Amino acid sequence: MKAGKPVTRVLFVCLGNICRSPTAHGVFASLVENGGLAEYIEVDSCGTGGWHVGEPPDSRATAEAGARGYDLSPLRARQLRAADFRDFDYILAMDEANLAELRALRPPAFAGHLGLFLEFAPQRREREVPDPYYGGDAGFVRVLDMVEEASEGLLREIQCARAG
Ligand code: 4NP
Repeated sequence: MKAGKPVTRVLFVCLGNICRSPTAHGVFASLVENGGLAEYIEVDSCGTGGWHVGEPPDSRATAEAGARGYDLSPLRARQLRAADFRDFDYILAMDEANLAELRALRPPAFAGHLGLFLEFAPQRREREVPDPYYGGDAGFVRVLDMVEEASEGLLREIQCARAG
């Protein structure tokens, strides 16, 4: 890691910012922290929708993440804002619907990476992190499995990009 390089900023995006993107936020921030990289990589999350603004993550997401050692409890939902395209280098959508919304709002000047988070877990068959909100606990376990794998891949990618 070269000294003096600007911070890399990562934004995870889902629909409500209470299930999938806060899970990605908590897991990836933990990887960054444990790798001693918090000075170089900043993490945030948001929703394309505004129904849950100000709320903590869904209790099922917090419980599943907690069981694996991630603390989602300080997070609060916020909605995507235009300035996010100025402030973030990686804007990563959980599913195709989130990505379509982001593409529609993307300003021409955005020079960062906009794509699906699971691009960073190419070993998985799935391309999308499915919305667990209306399902059972198993959906939240599955989200965590996907998020942990993609987070490892994303961190490798960012480290390569920063080293290059
Ligand atoms: P998320 O899940 O997008 O992963 O946060 C959802 C949370 C809430 C709703 C939909 C999805 N909702 O319709 O309220």
